[in-house]
Amino acid sequence: MTIIVTGGAGFIGSNFVYLELEEHSDDRIICLDNLTYAGNLSTLKKAMEYPNFRFVKADISDREAVEKLFEEEHPDIVVNFAAESHVDRSIEDPGIFLQTNIIGTQVLMDACRKYGIKRYHQVSTDEVYGDLPLDRPDLFFTEETPIHTSSPYSSSKAGADLLVLAYHRTYGLPVTVTRCSNNYGPYHFPEKLIPLMISRALADEPLPVYGKGENVRDWLYVKDHCKAIDLVMRGGRVGEVYNIGGHNEKSNLEVVKTILKELGKSEDLITFVTDRPGHDMRYAIDPTKIHNELGWLPETKFEDGIKQTIRWYLDNKEWWEEIISGEYRNYFDKMYKEKGRA
Ligand code: NAD
Ligand code: DAU
Repeated sequence: MTIIVTGGAGFIGSNFVYLELEEHSDDRIICLDNLTYAGNLSTLKKAMEYPNFRFVKADISDREAVEKLFEEEHPDIVVNFAAESHVDRSIEDPGIFLQTNIIGTQVLMDACRKYGIKRYHQVSTDEVYGDLPLDRPDLFFTEETPIHTSSPYSSSKAGADLLVLAYHRTYGLPVTVTRCSNNYGPYHFPEKLIPLMISRALADEPLPVYGKGENVRDWLYVKDHCKAIDLVMRGGRVGEVYNIGGHNEKSNLEVVKTILKELGKSEDLITFVTDRPGHDMRYAIDPTKIHNELGWLPETKFEDGIKQTIRWYLDNKEWWEEIISGEYRNYFDKMYKEKGRA
């Protein structure tokens, strides 16, 4: 089969590209990515050595470029990871989130309709459900939980997610959607909580924890997410949504303290800073459906996964040091110093 993986130069997409190359050597993997600040070609260096891998630099919202690729490759499956993915950036400047996340999804699906496809898979997020209160640990997001977004990012993802389901109902496009909780692991861009805290702790720099650090996220090791997507895009029921998460709820403060402990650094580095506007309190996924229908279960416990992740950042310093030495500096100053967050 020929599979187009959009956003394959980013965090989860690149982990997915490697999973496919390692576990499905008969398939041809085409990565379509326009290399925004979050896309990194060096991440795909090893993938380039596989004869069944091709990289194409293009914007998913560029209809001409997308159709050209479909004409060349006649894909069987399209799995759409490409997105603007950082909530804080969406609060600063929502426009590009609507363009990439919604219009990009439309352009991809229009090409799927025009050229024919076996499966279009949309990588959505648990953020489409909004948040849960801290004092109701009995509540979880199921696939029936109403869409109720908080940020421009989650709203753009919800728009795309609903558009995908509408293309199924209206045009019969064979789609599936997955809504996953927070991922962590190798190649995670160092603007997100876990890699940000690892890189700053290693430099003995203050760790900016928003608000009181009590917000809860349901952490999943990235490879477990990729395996779930692989199962759904190949065997999930058409037109269905599957939640992905591993019952791994941690407050931000717990996560930051775990990182400091693993690195042998002092908790004095923790600095409580101005909260994120509209900050979601708690995410927690009920993964019963994907478990019952496809047998998926997470394989990596947080306690092991966080150690492996920290090890990866220690062993691959050149990957993230190059990122944080460039344009990223301006980003950090703008997002943290100017807002009194550091
Ligand atoms: P990321 O920001 O690390 O990577 C995004 C990738 O998409 C980059 O390689 C970037 O260059 C590419 N891209 C952006 N705009 C593009 C465009 N217009 N055309 C082509 N390529 C473009 O993101 P991530 O954290 O790997 O997330 C991947 C997907 O998974 C996103 O759709 C995100 O919403 C979803 N998701 C992420 C998480 C998480 O915890 N990170 C959890 C659930 C769902
Ligand atoms: O739940 C899935 C979502 O998880 C994905 O859809 C998003 O693409 C992904 O970025 C992630 O969103 P979050 O907003 O949860 O991730 P982030 O790493 O930005 O923040 C995690 C938590 O840590 C959140 O409560 C905010 C807090 N935080 C974050 C940063 C960057 C801090 O306290 N300090 C920080 O500097």
